[in-house]
Amino acid sequence: MFHNIPQPIQTRMRFLEEIDARDRLDGTPRMQRLRQVPSQTGKFLALLAAAAPPGQFVEIGASAGYSTLWLALAARHLGRRITTFEVLPEKLALARETYAAAGVEDVVGLVGGDAREHLPRFGEIAFCFLDAEKEVYADCYELVVPRLVPGGLLAADNAINHRQTLQPLLDRSLQDTRVAALVVPIDNGVLLCRKN
Ligand SMILES: C[S@@+](CC[C@H](N)C(=O)[O-])C[C@H]1O[C@@H](n2cnc3c(N)ncnc32)[C@H](O)[C@@H]1O
Repeated sequence: MFHNIPQPIQTRMRFLEEIDARDRLDGTPRMQRLRQVPSQTGKFLALLAAAAPPGQFVEIGASAGYSTLWLALAARHLGRRITTFEVLPEKLALARETYAAAGVEDVVGLVGGDAREHLPRFGEIAFCFLDAEKEVYADCYELVVPRLVPGGLLAADNAINHRQTLQPLLDRSLQDTRVAALVVPIDNGVLLCRKN
């Protein structure tokens, strides 16, 4: 999956990594930054998604589409599709540009708007990556977990660097008998839940 990443995907990944690194250094306001996952987390997500049971992939918080590109590697490997949600119009436009430039439009469906308004109409989910504003994590968790197929995975980023804000959700998931959960200490920390 990682040894033969198509050139257009690699090129777009490098492009977004450069923008993200520059924005973190030059004081670009938080909401304008891409705030994407580190590449190691991207690889981890792709490996997780590739191990998910049959079914669709979902991403909540596309930004410019960097993490989607990692998930697209797994989706293509397995013949699956990803639906990704993005609420900000300017990020939506960047994500659209990313998917076209990287040539992944065949496996990625981009949906504009608040994921919480769309998820109630969603069917079964095999893998979900949650990476939105931390204030919506709890709502998204409650919408996603009932929709996960048995063995389905929910991965939520920033479980360590936003631990204080996310503590109620971490407590909820660790005590939730519907899932097996733990915090994986990779980069910013990933809360990983597997549906029983
Ligand atoms: C941390 S960034 C996502 C980074 C991206 N996953 C990556 O690694 O390339 C969070 C994104 O979630 C979006 N977002 C926040 N709340 C959302 C919601 N309720 N529904 C959909 N997108 C949301 C924000 O606009 C922002 O672009």
